[in-house]
Amino acid sequence: MPVDSDSLAAFRKQVTSARSLDTISWDASRQLVNPADWPATRTRLIDAIDASSTHDDLKQGLIAALPPAHATDDRHSCVDLLKQFTGLPPTKALRALCVFFGLRAKPTTKWPLPTVSPDTVEAFIQEHLNPFDLLLEQLPASMLDLGAGDLSFAEELVTLYEPQLAMHNRPLMLHCLDRLNPDSQLGGPLHAPPLRLTRLRAKPGLQFRFYGDQDMFALDPLERDQRLATRYLIVTCWAPATPTFAYEPTRISPTCLAEELRRTKGESREVRHGKEHALEVHHAGRSLLFPPWKFDIRGPLALLELMATRGALCVLGAVDSQVFWEILSQLIEDPGVRPADLILSPQTLPQVFGETYRRLAALPIGGSCMLSDLAPLRQSFPSVLRLPAGHLAPYRFRQVRIQRGALFEGIPASSTARRFQGMSEETPPWFVTLVPESISIS
Ligand SMILES: C[S@@+](CC[C@H](N)C(=O)[O-])C[C@H]1O[C@@H](n2cnc3c(N)ncnc32)[C@H](O)[C@@H]1O
Repeated sequence: MPVDSDSLAAFRKQVTSARSLDTISWDASRQLVNPADWPATRTRLIDAIDASSTHDDLKQGLIAALPPAHATDDRHSCVDLLKQFTGLPPTKALRALCVFFGLRAKPTTKWPLPTVSPDTVEAFIQEHLNPFDLLLEQLPASMLDLGAGDLSFAEELVTLYEPQLAMHNRPLMLHCLDRLNPDSQLGGPLHAPPLRLTRLRAKPGLQFRFYGDQDMFALDPLERDQRLATRYLIVTCWAPATPTFAYEPTRISPTCLAEELRRTKGESREVRHGKEHALEVHHAGRSLLFPPWKFDIRGPLALLELMATRGALCVLGAVDSQVFWEILSQLIEDPGVRPADLILSPQTLPQVFGETYRRLAALPIGGSCMLSDLAPLRQSFPSVLRLPAGHLAPYRFRQVRIQRGALFEGIPASSTARRFQGMSEETPPWFVTLVPESISIS
């Protein structure tokens, strides 16, 4: 049935108004209608028209007015129809329909993204004990370091890999961030020394960025204005913060958590320290000052999801025992290793993890094993982050390798990893390599 002239006029008005209200989408819509993108855009536009609340007659008319997928020169055969619906010449008409029906152009990215498959990464991990060597084999050589501290790992990595990549004219892209505010008086040795920063920033062949005062769970603004890439070949985190990642909030209730923090860390309160806020903690007869967010508990699920959705490969170095077992309890399929409100400790670990605990505890320093040889890997992880569009969830890890120790021959390490060497009362830390894959929802 032909669309009556009143409905057409009302529709034209709505299209004009959508276009003038959303100038960003209007500018971006140019990309959607270029000849290479038009076939895919046409399919999306038809789906969007179909799914809309537009009147059925109008829907049919609009779909009939769209130029064919592979005959973009033929746009002019639709001139009259498109003009009727939008009041615009053909290309502008199609752009206006894209904006009106909510089609968004994919942002063009400043940083190259990895295209390597999980199969290839898994095969690489089976053969190489140094996961960072993937930088030499796959494009782009890109890495994100979360909670980068004093950037000593960053500098070691650059010293080892940048010259080898430069020989093949390949840049190393290294993005680092830390929640510590570089201007803060708190945090002591975790601050990046200015000289190291200057050296890294000055290195030719290195695309280095450091973002201080940056919470790893608030990356949207950085990503939106392309200060970060959406995905990296490798995402790493060295000495994941305690207690931030030492307790999983979906497993341990707020009351139990508060009691445990009071018992192990002491009483704490927010205070002023000069011009800044701080957390004052009374521990073993001493009063210690930390950044105010020191006791923000995010838990392993948040860290694993962040890393899995941003890296083709994830590497956790110098993981202390408490954080390690809490992470492990999320990686195994058996829900029995995630008991509610039970704090994991040397006393409870054997009972919770059984044979897996005994085999891992027996791993010598420098030893390694695949977690799947000890217990079935978890097949799907609950999403605890609100991810921006483009980051797929749910996810899982198809391979997890566990190595025991802080330092490994030929593998760059962070300053905390090096400090573990001198800590005789600490149990040796863990090095965990994870190969993520997203699970498509059918
Ligand atoms: C134990 S230190 C390890 C520093 C460094 N990776 C190393 O191994 O030497 C933990 C680091 O994580 C940072 N951090 C803690 N929570 C963070 C968050 N939510 N986002 C970004 N960095 C965070 C801390 O400021 C600190 O520098």
